Amino acid sequence: MRVIIVKDYKDMSRRAAKVVANRIGKKPDLVLGLATGSTPEGTYSELIRIHREEGLNFSKVRSFNLDEYCGLSPDHPQSYHYFMYDKLFNHINIRPENIYIPKGDVENANISCEWYEEKIKEEGGIDLQILGIGRDGHIGFNEPGSSLGSRTRIKTLTKETIQDNARFFKKGEEVPRYAITMGLGTISEARECLLLASGANKAEVLQKCIEGPVSAEITASLLQLHPRVMIIIDEEAAQNLRQKDYYQYAEKMAEELEVSQKFGARKK
Ligand code: F6R
Repeated sequence: MRVIIVKDYKDMSRRAAKVVANRIGKKPDLVLGLATGSTPEGTYSELIRIHREEGLNFSKVRSFNLDEYCGLSPDHPQSYHYFMYDKLFNHINIRPENIYIPKGDVENANISCEWYEEKIKEEGGIDLQILGIGRDGHIGFNEPGSSLGSRTRIKTLTKETIQDNARFFKKGEEVPRYAITMGLGTISEARECLLLASGANKAEVLQKCIEGPVSAEITASLLQLHPRVMIIIDEEAAQNLRQKDYYQYAEKMAEELEVSQKFGARKK
């Protein structure tokens, strides 16, 4: 895992958007896995800026979202459909037919979950999966105890997650208790994962995710087994990491190595 510690939310967003733009530059028909929530919002704003000012082209990009609340229609302001169009899709040149988000308001959600898995396969699998992390360690909505090999399915949200998500809903409005989410097996098959986190309220869980044992209790810890993971977090989120100094040192060394590989090793 490559752990990159940056100053604040703004830096995290800029750095993450740069990674996404770089991957699209290398593979214009990238299959991009997307997350919602407050963490990736800044990354999406920065991607919109790069699209407008530097011509980043999304016309061939295909996208799959991690999750959607059960029972909310796509036009509900708190649905993840709405979020994605509002925060990203309406402002870039991605084709509507290339956008996939689990459907939360269908009669038979199980069929829709199977269809989602098939569609990911048909499109060649996810190249880069963007992830946020919940305070209970979830990625997607894979709450504690989720099977490490799980596929797209319905999950019951923990009280903690419902509480955390209540901030997005109007006072008195019921927060959904179920969500459709890609499984941990589905996420693990992405060729690359990019985990983002910001703020002191993520510090405790990040320490467990990065340095604790791999366990279904903190489902994000499964990323330790993935061959290509980049974790971009800010200072506040990184404050509990035991190996923080080493991650910063390793990052500095990696940058130096990149520069020397680009310009050739200096002769004595
Ligand atoms: C949302 C998702 C969730 C969030 C997590 C963190 O699509 O997959 O795992 O990433 O709940 O949410 P925020 O970013 O709001 O702290």
